[in-house]
Amino acid sequence: MKLKQLLSVLLAFTVLFSVMTACGSTSDEPDSAVTTSSTEAEEEAVTVDRDNTYAYDEDAPSLYEAFAQWFKVGTAMNISDLVEGTEEFEILVKQYNVFTLENESKPDAMHPSEDVYNFDALDQLVEFANEYDKTVRGHTLVWHSQCPDWFFYDDDGNTVSADVLVERLIEHVTTIVSHYKGEVDVWDVCNEVLGDSGGLRDSMWYQIIGDYDGDGDSYDYIEIAFTAAHEADPDARLIINDYSLESSESKAISMYMMVKSMLEEGIPIDGIGLQMHVDIGFDVETCKNNVEILMKLKSIDPDFVIEVTELDLSCFTWSDTSTEVELTDEFLEQFDSLYSDIFEMFIEFSEAGYLDSVVFWGYYDGMSWLNGYPVSGRTNYPLLIDRDYKLKSAYWSLIDLAESKS
Ligand code: XIL
Repeated sequence: MKLKQLLSVLLAFTVLFSVMTACGSTSDEPDSAVTTSSTEAEEEAVTVDRDNTYAYDEDAPSLYEAFAQWFKVGTAMNISDLVEGTEEFEILVKQYNVFTLENESKPDAMHPSEDVYNFDALDQLVEFANEYDKTVRGHTLVWHSQCPDWFFYDDDGNTVSADVLVERLIEHVTTIVSHYKGEVDVWDVCNEVLGDSGGLRDSMWYQIIGDYDGDGDSYDYIEIAFTAAHEADPDARLIINDYSLESSESKAISMYMMVKSMLEEGIPIDGIGLQMHVDIGFDVETCKNNVEILMKLKSIDPDFVIEVTELDLSCFTWSDTSTEVELTDEFLEQFDSLYSDIFEMFIEFSEAGYLDSVVFWGYYDGMSWLNGYPVSGRTNYPLLIDRDYKLKSAYWSLIDLAESKS
């Protein structure tokens, strides 16, 4: 008799325990819990607490998978983030499928003096990308910033001639692009060539090389760079990258005119990179208008595309000089819905055949260049993952958007 009683008590406990396990802990479920499908059993539902999900959690969604039908989603990162087994590594693998080095593939890092090339960092990124089936963007071959002086001066400190700089430019582009032939999928060949008041930036490249072929325009250093890159790797996608194209109509028109002229001359440019360092005052309609201007280039090359190359959404407008912002519910609502509007626009661009990939300039708030720039001592929150690697509400608004559009 005693044994029978014991058995029935045990049975009751077993039943109760399995019911509790199947339902999850019901007593303290958070308000914001959502249901997602489990990999264990399709019918069984598990809960994800949106306020407490880390970007590397197994149950967390994947941003690049959520938008895979429209475009790739990537991030800038540093090679020190690629240590297997770390949270950073897990986040990168799980959330993104395009990668670019934030600083380590710029001219000063890759080609610090005439006879020295540093391929280590980008080699490691390429190796990672091959193993995990990711895309690599090379950023950047030619730029006025983070470019060492040796390009422009001789041993006596005098400015070199156009012939010498052209030779150095071709050598630089050819050596780097050939090294990564078939491995780096996309190159930002030239970065920020336009000035803020329209027309070409008054850089050393422009000043020294100028109208080298005497055809009446001074796009020559850009033309030489793209031609050399294409010869070194005919399959790489070659991008001309710049800022404010999404917000300044006059800059978008300057870009359009310049690229049109080069495409008509047969210069191998495959697309325009919109950096998209935008802020809380961003206007989606202006961006759509400007992209329509740029995409008129499809009449010359139907495969011409735009890429979003450096997306972040500053919590401060450009003219704001404050260092702190209060993340009130109202502010976050505005921030999240702006991110959502921006991605809805990206979906439209993709459906129109314009957009190939969206790359963030960093993957969590703590690493963003916008902390301390352009206002020193500033703390900013421009990305989708917070300083503790938790998914922010803006992240979830994008996941909801992708689901609603699927
Ligand atoms: C920034 C990096 O994020 C910083 O770490 C560095 O100190 C300066 O450059 N446009 C570009 C990027 O094309 O290369 C810049 O990256 C941000 C603006």
